[in-house]
Amino acid sequence: MSSVIQTEHLTRRFGDLTALDQISLTVEQGEVFGLLGPNGAGKTTLVRLLNGMLAISGGSARVLGYDPASQGDQLRRHTGVLTETPSLYEQLSARENLIFFGTLYGVPEGDLSRRVDEVLDLFGLRERTANKAGEFSKGMKQRLALARTLVHEPELLFFDEPTAALDPEASRQVTDLIASLSRERGRTIFLCTHNLDEAQRLCDRVAVINRGKLLAVGTPAQLARDQFQGTWVEIALRTAPDGRLVTALQALPEVIQVSLDDQKLAVQINHDDVIPAVVVQVVELGGQIMRVNPREHSLEEIYFKVQEEAKA
Ligand SMILES: Nc1ncnc2c1ncn2[C@@H]1O[C@H](COP(=O)(O)OP(=O)(O)O)[C@@H](O)[C@H]1O
Ligand SMILES: [Mg+2]
Repeated sequence: MSSVIQTEHLTRRFGDLTALDQISLTVEQGEVFGLLGPNGAGKTTLVRLLNGMLAISGGSARVLGYDPASQGDQLRRHTGVLTETPSLYEQLSARENLIFFGTLYGVPEGDLSRRVDEVLDLFGLRERTANKAGEFSKGMKQRLALARTLVHEPELLFFDEPTAALDPEASRQVTDLIASLSRERGRTIFLCTHNLDEAQRLCDRVAVINRGKLLAVGTPAQLARDQFQGTWVEIALRTAPDGRLVTALQALPEVIQVSLDDQKLAVQINHDDVIPAVVVQVVELGGQIMRVNPREHSLEEIYFKVQEEAKA
């Protein structure tokens, strides 16, 4: 894998405020990378720095091999950026908007018409191509804005809170489109969001930031392991076991604690590797196992844990 984004100690100050504080991270080719954080965390600032839309105060960044600080114009021909408030020309038709932005991003004239039709199709806007953007619903405008980010076929896409202003239905459509851009078209996607369900559905790796500081980065599974000591396995039994079983399990190495609720055992362990030994012990003491379920931590649990730790 090769990195498409690398930052080292990337910093941006606005007067006395450090909006981004020494951010070092990498984004790999083809992944959906989520940047999670509350309002004011620094997400939009990072997107702007990475696209050369804002000057860097300290540290460095490389994006697709370019230095955004000095090669912003070249870089932006290879990135698609959906900003928080997408700027569309309301008086222009959907098609005219796309032609305009395609030209701006240097799509060769001979390719432009075909590209525009392709993205209009992709976003289900073909029937509305002649309508003015100003007449579109919010969801349609957002789809048009997404189409706009793709018209020059960028390899790297930045979506800054793409569903924040949408109702659940439009929001689901937009997330599905983002997923298909990643899965079917292999695009690298940098997604800023504070919608944790959306991040859970879309992201391969996530970074959590707050007040300009990077608090954690990794796959949701890695973060869960870092944040929560060990994992839990739930074991459902046919009949309630006697107390000896709990004592025996507690005595196993790598078992942190055991709780019993009627026919359901919950065992906290250091690693998943211990699950077979736990199962053997249960069986040896006469437990009739119906189900074994490792309990997964949701991104939401992880997110709040990371934010809590940072406060402590
Ligand atoms: N142009 C600017 N001038 C002054 N402060 C700014 C500017 N842009 C952003 N900030 C401040 O930087 C911090 C991070 O903002 P932002 O990157 O927009 O956060 P997010 O996108 O995560 O909500 C906030 O405190 C915000 O007020
Ligand atoms: Mg923002």
